[in-house]
Amino acid sequence: MAHVHPMNAPTDVFRQHLIDPEICIRCNTCEETCPIDAISHDERNYVVDPAKCENCTACIAPCPTGAIDSWRQVPRSAVYTIEQQLGWDALPPQQGTPGAAETATDLPPDVARIVARATAGQGGESPPPWSAAHPYVNLHAAAKPAVATVSGNFRLTADDASSDVRHLVLDFGQVAFPVLEGQTVGILPPGVDAHGRPHHPRLYSVASPREGERPRYNNLALTVKRVTEDHDGTPVRGVASNFLCDLAKGDTVQVIGPFGTSFLMPNHPGANLLMVCTGTGSAPMRAMTERRRRRIGLGEGGSLMLFFGARRAEELPYFGPLMKLPGDFIDINFAFSRAAGEPKRYVQDRIRERGADVARLLADPDTFVYVCGLKGMEAGVAEAFADACRAHGQDWDALLPALRQQGRYHLETY
Ligand code: A2P
Repeated sequence: MAHVHPMNAPTDVFRQHLIDPEICIRCNTCEETCPIDAISHDERNYVVDPAKCENCTACIAPCPTGAIDSWRQVPRSAVYTIEQQLGWDALPPQQGTPGAAETATDLPPDVARIVARATAGQGGESPPPWSAAHPYVNLHAAAKPAVATVSGNFRLTADDASSDVRHLVLDFGQVAFPVLEGQTVGILPPGVDAHGRPHHPRLYSVASPREGERPRYNNLALTVKRVTEDHDGTPVRGVASNFLCDLAKGDTVQVIGPFGTSFLMPNHPGANLLMVCTGTGSAPMRAMTERRRRRIGLGEGGSLMLFFGARRAEELPYFGPLMKLPGDFIDINFAFSRAAGEPKRYVQDRIRERGADVARLLADPDTFVYVCGLKGMEAGVAEAFADACRAHGQDWDALLPALRQQGRYHLETY
């Protein structure tokens, strides 16, 4: 395939790579790392030549300060020249898209499309919780993905379950791939699509906490369901999910990202987590729960409440480990829709049953809500929250805008 330089890509807007002169410590690492000499400096600043840089991102991970990870969307006719960059004391502001939108537009276009769809149900991404740690994003791009080695691939669903859900552990060896709970990574399936083009990335939520699946090992976990049919039940073979589910220990995977600046957990003591998920939407909930479980001994307080929907207990990822968690650490509410001899139950039914506790939690300014799973649950869950509020003296219609604006309501559906 012919290589298209980003400067020549057929759009009017150029995503320009820049270096933040206020943060840069002038250590020369980026200039040494750049394989095509797109970075240079004078006695004042380090700068990126927009005519040369191919966004390979080789320079991003080695930078000790993050100054190198600076981007601006600029009209192609007004790209910042080397001479302009050499004169800067600070980066110019992003024109037209302040705040969170600036980050969203920085995503690779195919990733931005997936994120926009996943967060559409809440009207786009909310700000992160005020006490969330600062996430790294976009460290590894498709032009130069990180290569991870599979160190484990475990089936989570029972042998006789209809779904094959896997817990996959990826080891990044010496490559920096820092993630926070709630972030996603992009997987590049090998091979090409029906048009002979490389497959576009698939996003998966990280299922392990920030220190990794195993602390001091540079690894992370994903929860992957083998896709064998589409939303309507028509048989299809999911390209990425089947590739991932079939991986053996020692196999390698190309990974891009990390992504996600919104669906992040609060860091402050006393923060409550109200989590609602179905199926593999449990991945970020496992990450957050495991982070909190590892910190139980610190006595930081705050409660955890989980609503988790699956067809049957046998189909529920992490059922065993969840059952072992102490009841005073997390309040778990399962909703089984196809358990033999039981009425069909969805997470929203459980939310209504626990309405008094849900409404109390929602009214607490230290509560942060996370919803992840099937697109169909979006509206139903919001209605259940509204009903719980109505029955217990809260006004959901007034609460929701405040929750969103304060980074306390996060939704990711697919
Ligand atoms: P159902 O038995 O009706 O499919 P899956 O196993 O397909 O990943 O789904 C996980 C769980 O989410 C299942 O129990 C499924 O029930 C349930 N579910 C399906 N649609 C909705 C919805 N609109 N709201 C809440 N839960 C749903």
